[in-house]
Amino acid sequence: MKSAIIACAVLILCVGACIVSAVDAVAEHGKQVYAAQKCAMCHSISGAGGKRLALDGVGSRLKPKEMQKWIRTPKEMKSNTTMKAYPNLPEKDLDALTSYLLSLK
Ligand code: HEC
Repeated sequence: MKSAIIACAVLILCVGACIVSAVDAVAEHGKQVYAAQKCAMCHSISGAGGKRLALDGVGSRLKPKEMQKWIRTPKEMKSNTTMKAYPNLPEKDLDALTSYLLSLK
């Protein structure tokens, strides 16, 4: 019985670690999208990048839907914004980028 409990605990830990690393991999891809789309021309993270708006802590400020709106249709978030719109960013890249931004707490 005791060993069954241990086996179970080990299994749960492994599954947990697996999910965490899958999320990390997506966020990692998002980081590459961030670089490829040159978001850093305007935005900084940890002091590196453009001076217009620091994205540090954006993961605690915004909901995923709001981030995606900012990226796809920024004028819907703020009508006079100078933020560049990315209407043609593939869905997969948008999702990865969102996970990356969410990781910035
Ligand atoms: C041409 C400059 C520019 C580029 C390029 C740009 N942004 Fe922005 N972004 C802005 C500005 C300026 C704001 C602030 C909105 C305002 O006040 O107009 C903003 C706002 C945001 C916000 C909302 C932040 C908050 O705290 O409310 C997010 C999220 C964001 N940008 C993400 C991105 C991502 C991701 C990229 C790359 C795909 C990107 N931006 C590219 C200029 C830019």
